[in-house]
Amino acid sequence: MSLFPKPAITCIEDLKVLHKARTPRMFYDYAESGSYTEQTFRENTTDFARIRLRQKVAVDMSNRSLASDMAGLPVSMPVGLAPVGLTGMQHADGEILAARAAETFGVPFCLSTMSICSIEDVAAHTTKPFMFQLYVMKDQAFLEAIIERAKRANCSALLLTLDLQILGQRHKDLKNGLSAPPKLTLPTMLNLATKWRWGMGMLGTRRRFFGNIVGHAKGVGDTSSLSSWTAEQFDERLDWDKIARIRDLWVGKLILKGILDPEDARIAADFGADAIIVSNHGGRQLDGALSAIRMLPHIVEAVGDRVEVHMDSGIRSGQDVLKALALGAHATWIGRAFIHGLGAMGEAGVSKALEVIRNELDTTMALCGERDVKALGRHNLLLPKGFT
Ligand code: FNR
Repeated sequence: MSLFPKPAITCIEDLKVLHKARTPRMFYDYAESGSYTEQTFRENTTDFARIRLRQKVAVDMSNRSLASDMAGLPVSMPVGLAPVGLTGMQHADGEILAARAAETFGVPFCLSTMSICSIEDVAAHTTKPFMFQLYVMKDQAFLEAIIERAKRANCSALLLTLDLQILGQRHKDLKNGLSAPPKLTLPTMLNLATKWRWGMGMLGTRRRFFGNIVGHAKGVGDTSSLSSWTAEQFDERLDWDKIARIRDLWVGKLILKGILDPEDARIAADFGADAIIVSNHGGRQLDGALSAIRMLPHIVEAVGDRVEVHMDSGIRSGQDVLKALALGAHATWIGRAFIHGLGAMGEAGVSKALEVIRNELDTTMALCGERDVKALGRHNLLLPKGFT
């Protein structure tokens, strides 16, 4: 009998509790927060809860399949690990561990521009191609160089994020003094002292903040607040012409992330994107925007037959994945759900998050009387009045 039995993990919430207990406060808060009043952040999850499922009985539910594809890639279930900046601060080598868990599970991992581990670090520790997420910076030479690096690493798709050319303020980050790299104040040091697991892990890594950027773009990696750095580097003049110029540099699959409006979705479809991700950046940008799950049906109606529509923001369970697919998403992405796993237990935690979601999706699908994830549709849902 162990004096310290392993905590029983039954759902993403369990991983979240452990993540909070084991990770320095400023990094947990960085993940678990939204912009300004956090209305959109909250509604991303509460709107999922408003959608109810139709139970079906006495239908053959044997031989179920969750297999699908995402932007041309076969996947064991239509759930990818979304790009998350500073993933490597939630757990040492976090990007590598998450990429490995995704690889083992047969789902895509997307590396953020703002990661700790670089494209090359992740490529050196994985065996299958991963995707790369690009923020559009002002420096054209930097853009060309980083796209070239993603090509050299054999990245399977470029995800261009369109909803963060200016940073929505997260009050908690300011209050915690989150900066890159973090400043050591007395409260920070006291907090760090209680997070021994995290600290022990970090001792073993020599990765630098913003591994993709350090040494490539001027001024990056100096001590500065995230918001002032973003203000300096991110290109506020991003428009469809600039997106077209990036398109010319990347011949592979292009996924446009951060589409929340049907009109923008139409432009993206006309543009010839391989897929779009309906997303409000997990409620971290435009506070007051509707939840992504509420916008999803409108976007599917506008462009669903012309471009592959993916969705993220607010998914915390397999039931949520099922609801998004039933509302017309071809695939989904998770951010915090896997970050909680990573902060809680490293690679095993990310695998656990994926396993939890897979099992929930599988069982829920069966109880809805469905055997194939691709056959889910509105007929599986009971939508509240006025939802769409
Ligand atoms: C993000 N997200 C994000 N998106 C992106 O394109 N590049 C990035 O670097 C980041 N960084 C980032 C950090 C953190 C801590 C979070 C929580 C999110 C957004 C992310 O890709 C995804 O859209 C959301 O996380 C989806 O919402 P949920 O699943 O977290 O509710």
